[in-house]
This record gives sequence, structure tokens and C-alpha cells, in this order.
Amino acid sequence: MVTGASGGIGRAVSLALAIHHNAHIIALGRDSRRLEQLCSDVRAAGGTASAASIDLAADGAIPSILPHIPSTGLYGLIHSAGVCPLGSVEKTSEDDLEGSWRLNLRAPYLVTAALLPALRKKRGHVLFINSGAGRVAKAGWSAYAMAKHGLKALADALRDEVSSEGIRVTSIFPGRTATDMQAFVRAHEGRPYDPSEWVQPADVAEAVVLALTTPTPSLVEEIVVRPMS
Ligand SMILES: NC(=O)c1ccc[n+]([C@@H]2O[C@H](COP(=O)([O-])OP(=O)(O)OC[C@H]3O[C@@H](n4cnc5c(N)ncnc54)[C@H](OP(=O)(O)O)[C@@H]3O)[C@@H](O)[C@H]2O)c1
Repeated sequence: MVTGASGGIGRAVSLALAIHHNAHIIALGRDSRRLEQLCSDVRAAGGTASAASIDLAADGAIPSILPHIPSTGLYGLIHSAGVCPLGSVEKTSEDDLEGSWRLNLRAPYLVTAALLPALRKKRGHVLFINSGAGRVAKAGWSAYAMAKHGLKALADALRDEVSSEGIRVTSIFPGRTATDMQAFVRAHEGRPYDPSEWVQPADVAEAVVLALTTPTPSLVEEIVVRPMS
């Protein structure tokens, strides 16, 4: 299962898993048209796919995910859905603060908790697409960085809870990555956006595949992927 599968990194992860492992992807997002396109591209890449359009920030999102989980269990849960509100502590609106908390932290927490029984059946793997902002909080990034720091804490606590059951937990920390989110960030900063300057979503996806396929008992706990300059 990949959240944010309709967007940059989640889409790239879904395609990489189809290409390398002929995976079955359960794709979550909101935009039905982009989800349908993703499913079609996953099939063309050698995988299979189903999709569900769900607003993960909304109350009641979790029960609507459960019918999409195979009764046989889940090999992987990749949290990529995210939103990046920017602004100083003084200027950030309550809506932006709430939106970041709900999607970037509350949703991964609740989705993971609800899917642990399915992950247990396959000794599955939970991967959190975190951010450089989950390691260092800079001016103007408080609402996002707070949630991403929390996401690292969630991953670390969860790993400590479930490792003994064979469930693996990994945090990936991408730097600026060439997606719609980065185009938004650059526009907010009033600076040009050139996708070739940034980490490519496919390269973050390769990090996800590496973490997923490293054989036990080794566990890739964290990966940082940053643009060189
Ligand atoms: N791009 C970067 O520079 C960068 C750097 C570090 C970390 N990250 C992290 O990487 C992850 C993926 O970001 P991205 O760059 O791929 O961004 P993106 O291209 O903007 O994609 C965001 C994804 O999140 C989904 N999403 C947004 N709001 C949602 C909601 N309320 N409910 C369900 N899904 C929702 C979007 O789906 P719909 O459009 O269908 O709603 C989309 O699939 C995020 O967690 C982000 O924080 C990104």
C-alpha cells in the first residue's frame, strides 16, 4: 500500500516496485484521475494495481481504507502522502498548522495502527517518507518540520515495538525533490524551479526498494537522499 501514490514520490515508488518486483500496488490518493493513470502505468511496468480515493486528513478516513486490505495481509506500507505549508510561526494559519499535523503525522500514525494486524501476517515493512525537515527545523518551516520530527519519533517508537515480531520500520529523509511539492516551495520562496537541480523522485524510490529488499536480519533504519549542492 502506497499513500500519496498519485503524486511525485509515491508515484515513483509504485512504479519502481512494479518494475523491480511485479508488485501489486494498492494506491491511495485523492485525485481519481491521477490514481487511474498510475494504475495503468503500474500495469504497463509489470505490476498490478488497485486504487482508492481517500482524504487521509479527514475524520473517518481509516475505516474506509480497511476494505482495500487483502485478507492475506500486507507486505509493505509506504507513507508518502504529505503537504508542505510554509510560513513563520507568527504568520502560519491555524488551518495550515492543523492540515500539516493531520496529513503528515496523524494520518501515518492512525493508518499504521489500523494496518498492523495485516502487516503482522506477512512480517511486513513500514516505510515513512520523511524529509530533511524531519532532521533539522529551519525558519519558515515550523508546521511542516514539527510534523516531520514527530514522524521520525513515530518510526523510532514503532520500530522498538514491532521489531521482535519481524515487522521492519524505515524512515527515508529526502532533500528537495523534483515534484509538484517542490514547485510549490520554490514559488513560495519566489525563486525559479528547475527540476533537474533536485533529487529525482525515482532516486528516492530506489532508496525505498533498497530498504524493502535488504534481507533480514539486516534492517535499513534510515536513508538520507539529498541533492549534492
Ligand atoms: N518534494 C520534496 O522536495 C520533498 C522533500 C522531502 C520530503 N518530501 C515528502 O515526500 C512525500 C511526497 O511528497 P511529493 O514531493 O511527492 O509531493 P506531491 O507531488 O505534492 O504529492 C503529494 C501526494 O500526497 C497526496 N495527498 C495530499 N493531500 C492528501 C490528503 N489530504 N489525503 C490523501 N492524500 C493526499 C497527493 O494526492 P492527491 O493530489 O491525489 O490528493 C499526492 O499523491 C511527502 O511526505 C513530502 O513531505 C518531499
